[in-house]
Amino acid sequence: MPRVHFMSPMQDLTVEVAPGTSLLDAAEEAHAQVGHSCGGVCACSTCHVWVKKGLDSLSEQDDLEMDRLDLAFDVRATSRLGCQAKVGDEDVEVWITEESLKAYMDENPDERKALEAEGKWPPAKFS
Ligand code: FES
Repeated sequence: MPRVHFMSPMQDLTVEVAPGTSLLDAAEEAHAQVGHSCGGVCACSTCHVWVKKGLDSLSEQDDLEMDRLDLAFDVRATSRLGCQAKVGDEDVEVWITEESLKAYMDENPDERKALEAEGKWPPAKFS
């Protein structure tokens, strides 16, 4: 099974998933801090990640995802929405964007407060 590796200033996690699994579902399985304000229905951009490896192995981007990414912060050629990009047969590495990490912390205030208390949030650098 392909592995998905999530990286951010906060985490470095890898999870094995079945082909066809979305990056967002993989993130939830790995407990990676990927935001998902709309619940994974392509109605926001809080699951925005940069794909560092395996971009071509992911499912194709459709017009709706491209339209949503137009509203995202710091969009790059490797940008994908985690809820829309599905894993193929190859391993994938993704960087969780600042936008997504901040959204995750807003969605999980107790976790954010605990990290703040430990001096781990916000990170000195986001990328
Ligand atoms: S969670 Fe909203 S677009 Fe992916």
